Amino acid sequence: MEEKKIKTIGVLTSGGDAPGMNAAVRAVVLEAIGHGMKVLGIFRGYSGLLSEQIRELGADDVAGIIGKGGTILETSRCPQMQTEEGLEQAAAVCRKYGIDGLVIVGGDGSFRGAQKLSKHGVKVIGVPGTIDGDIACTDYTIGFDTAANAAMEAIDRIRDTASSHECVSIVEVMGRKSGNLALWCAVADGAERVLIPEEKQVDTDTIAADILSRRKDGPKAYILVNAEGNGHTRELAEEIEKKTGVHTRYSVLSFLQRGGIPTCRERIFATLMGQRAVSLLAKGVTNRVVVHNPEGFSDVAIDEVLNKKAHFCSDVYEASQRIMRDCRILTETE
Ligand code: ADP
Ligand code: F6P
Repeated sequence: MEEKKIKTIGVLTSGGDAPGMNAAVRAVVLEAIGHGMKVLGIFRGYSGLLSEQIRELGADDVAGIIGKGGTILETSRCPQMQTEEGLEQAAAVCRKYGIDGLVIVGGDGSFRGAQKLSKHGVKVIGVPGTIDGDIACTDYTIGFDTAANAAMEAIDRIRDTASSHECVSIVEVMGRKSGNLALWCAVADGAERVLIPEEKQVDTDTIAADILSRRKDGPKAYILVNAEGNGHTRELAEEIEKKTGVHTRYSVLSFLQRGGIPTCRERIFATLMGQRAVSLLAKGVTNRVVVHNPEGFSDVAIDEVLNKKAHFCSDVYEASQRIMRDCRILTETE
């Protein structure tokens, strides 16, 4: 039997907002219009799908949004999607509005919702959108680059004042359970140490000894990047100060990292991903996630993405260990 032609698609953003989501939404709308499809924007993620906050989007609605942070569609966390009733209702709303295919821009949680929705007959395509950069099968997620740059700039500023006061500064960087963002900004900022949830926790005696040994002759400022997944940043700062006697400050970057103007890379990658999502739906393809890898853009089964381990930047991790260890060895052998 011939596949039913896709006439109407829906697009929503879900989970934490991420800079570049607007570029993806714009690309979805413009690409779909190019395919002669009608596009329905679903506002406030899955919550908006359930409560039917839906309206048609045209080229004018997405004009001028490519450079804006956040998401014009808004987003939400929607616990109802984790219930059978919620999923049935979401599928019913899709039927009611004639949504033949749905593009979901979000993180792995959003893809779990999409996977379940597909079992209720909705054609779904996922586009990775999360500042955490932790989705399996892809080395790029929308928002990571901008968030990493935002954190990097913030830590640059923190280093200026830490150097001026010769103190220790502990900076907590977002990323939920993933240490990727922390790793990237720690390496980009020349931090003295980074702590991530993926590795065995280093004890505070070792950190204190490292701080004191570096202070003997070298620069006195010490930047430690602590991934959000480890938590306890304030307690860590208090303990380090007690053990070293060195004034130790801490800063939690939090949402400062999540908003802001998307980088050029973000705008381009999100555009290509959004276009690809629509092209897949136009071909009748479903249950896929658009991904990026060294070979370029492609798509993989949503099940595969959700069954594999979260993406971890092991090359940046190795680099961080070598760079930070080299400094310690130098200090210790001097
Ligand atoms: P992200 O998509 O960034 O990982 P969340 O984990 O908060 O963010 O997920 C976003 C939304 O996706 C949730 O609020 C919920 O509506 C839906 N979702 C998450 N996990 C599931 C699940 N296991 N089953 C169904 N829906 C889910
Ligand atoms: O997933 C993106 C993210 O910003 C994580 O880094 C963070 O742990 C979480 O969302 C915060 O979520 P909320 O917006 O619900 O506080």
